[in-house]
Amino acid sequence: MPNLVRYEVKDGVAVLTIDNPPVNALAPEVWGEIDEAVKRGVADPNAEALVLIGAGTTFIAGADIKAFELLKTPADSMARSEGTHALLKRVEDCTKPLVAALHGNALGGGLEVAQACHFRVATKDAKIGQPEVLLGIIPGAGGTQRLPRLAGAKMALTMCTDGKPVTAPNALAAGIIDHIVADDLLTGAIAFAKSKAQAHEIRKVRDIVINADGVKAGLEACDAMRAALKKTAKGLRAPYAVVDAIEAGLKLSFDQGSVRERELFADCVASTESKALRHLFFADREVAKVPDVPKDTPTKDITRAAVVGAGTMGGGIAMNYANAGIPVLLKDVDQAALDRGMATIRKNYEVTMSKGKMTAEQVEKTMALITPTTTYDGFDQVDIVTEAVFENMDLKKATFTDLGRVTRPDCILASNSSTLDIDQFANASGRPAQVLGHHYFSPANVMKLLEIVRGKETSKEVIASSLKLSKKLAKVGVVVGNCFGFVANRMLAYYMREAYLLLEEGASVEQIDRVLVDFGLPVGPFGMQDIAGIDVGARIRQYLKSIGKSRAEGPQSAIPDRLFELGRYGQKTGAGWYMYDAPGSRNRTTDPLIEQMANEEAKKRGIVRRPISDEEIIARITTALANEGARVLADKFATRPGDIDVIYVYGFGFPRYRGGPMFYAETVGLPTVLSRVHEYRARFGDYWEPAPLLEKLVADGRGFYTQG
Ligand code: 3HC
Repeated sequence: MPNLVRYEVKDGVAVLTIDNPPVNALAPEVWGEIDEAVKRGVADPNAEALVLIGAGTTFIAGADIKAFELLKTPADSMARSEGTHALLKRVEDCTKPLVAALHGNALGGGLEVAQACHFRVATKDAKIGQPEVLLGIIPGAGGTQRLPRLAGAKMALTMCTDGKPVTAPNALAAGIIDHIVADDLLTGAIAFAKSKAQAHEIRKVRDIVINADGVKAGLEACDAMRAALKKTAKGLRAPYAVVDAIEAGLKLSFDQGSVRERELFADCVASTESKALRHLFFADREVAKVPDVPKDTPTKDITRAAVVGAGTMGGGIAMNYANAGIPVLLKDVDQAALDRGMATIRKNYEVTMSKGKMTAEQVEKTMALITPTTTYDGFDQVDIVTEAVFENMDLKKATFTDLGRVTRPDCILASNSSTLDIDQFANASGRPAQVLGHHYFSPANVMKLLEIVRGKETSKEVIASSLKLSKKLAKVGVVVGNCFGFVANRMLAYYMREAYLLLEEGASVEQIDRVLVDFGLPVGPFGMQDIAGIDVGARIRQYLKSIGKSRAEGPQSAIPDRLFELGRYGQKTGAGWYMYDAPGSRNRTTDPLIEQMANEEAKKRGIVRRPISDEEIIARITTALANEGARVLADKFATRPGDIDVIYVYGFGFPRYRGGPMFYAETVGLPTVLSRVHEYRARFGDYWEPAPLLEKLVADGRGFYTQG
């Protein structure tokens, strides 16, 4: 048997130490060893009580998420959970006081094990929670039955539906833990356990009776939570299953409630929602692993930064640095632009303050980290410069030439270009190993994605430093290759083109946006473009035209350029795909002009407009994304399909519960996706061309994640 739970007796107390690094996850063997160790402690004449503790920096961070893959059907899950529930009842039936000692994270199954112990003590900084819902499941080892008995149904409902951990002091106040240990955790836990042994005190949580008033209040809380979830849990199943399980616990006995919990868990764990969320749990962590950039690659500490360009993106990027406590120079050539940029930054912080998320003092302290300037003075002191000037090749090249001159040789030079060739900037700087792309997403201080674009000569140290920096800036850094639009915008061009063509063929802007929002995106393609600015895409198209290229092969709608020519740039000008109350307003109304333009363009292209179903809209848009994603993968501009999923989740708000565009395509079925491409080619033209990788995977009966 692997020694995952160590046993020793200290000061008359059996100490059971779970040692399964890095987070003491409950692999199937760990469950079994806890069971055995408790039995041994009961039988040990030298132990009057037991303490269960985690080795290293944490208690138990939950069940082993990878092991859920073994639960293929609800029946598998029911069989497994029967054993787990029985095991925890045996643990709870321990005849000597059993104390769980919590530090680091006591999450999911970890907290459930702790609840089966008679008492819980914790360090002050321990985090205690039931985050299962974030994986599309519910607590499956008694958490929905024991937590309401300990903390009340209302608190249990909150913890299990939002998945956020609570602090030890809050857990103490709620009755989830019994004591906070100020000094050494093990010493404190042993002393606590001995005191309980001397008092002959054992408390089984499952025996706690919730009185009639508690049941009534709990049932009301269940109804209120269901109503609240309509807003916060759109498209999700697991949060509702949590409420059902807790409600069952209030209405039924502990054992009957536990059976209901197991059934609901079994349902959830086999769901696409849970598979998608589990996939993203690991994909989120994998993006930081770049195959040819080893973990021990030296990195540069970023202690001072500069941003060139005080526009919307530049200002947002400067805020990221300041929020992370990094002093930043913000340069613009034009004092008026600089003043506008600083005023926007202040306004953003004041909005945050008005929501109670920052104090006035914090606003001033953070603002003080941003130094506006119209010169390169001080650039020789910074560790990184992020260039965020207009998306214009000549201007950017000139900026990099300047930066090569005014910064130290070891300074990282990053471009926030959303499309252009990083290698050209690298050459212009004269220091190509130090140059790469840092592509932020709008609004740069809010969106969590940072595409880290490696050029031909970008050094491994610069990539590793960028990944480290992304964490410091609270971003998810994903390393991508240097192709036009990189990964996010390269695929977006296909997504947007399909939206434009659907409009010309007969769908409306409102329908397309609504369908995508119903699918789970925060905003549809047209609404998104009105926020980002129709001018941005138009200028990129102008540049491409000037070098004889286009973003996506095949037909392109003329409507976006027509709107650009009319000065309808979106929200900022008060008109774009929609009409707005005023420039900057978000209150939008339909504009019949768009319908008129769609009719005109359809006529020019010889298209008879027709009613288009919601299903067709989703199918075409998601197929366009997956097909281009397959090309991105084959061209090796993304390391893994999961990286693309992460990019879309954090860059564009692709719904997590659908797992990202590549994962979603697999849930649809790659053969179906390929047959759609063939069908669309026949119906709409040769611009629909199956990606060779997609064809190959389907022919081989494999998927994006099992390419071998
Ligand atoms: N199962 C399997 N692997 C896990 C894991 C788990 N529960 N929790 C973390 N890991 C792995 C990570 O994948 C990562 O692996 P890697 O080094 O190979 O990439 C490694 O442990 C370290 O994790 P992090 O990088 O996330 O470390 P952090 O220190 O940043 O965060 C943490 C630690 C807060 C514990 C975070 O890992 C986390 O949130 N873990 C998941 C917690 C969770 O969801 N628990 C519930 C599980 S479901 C359950 O318990 C069901 C039950 O009701 C029956």
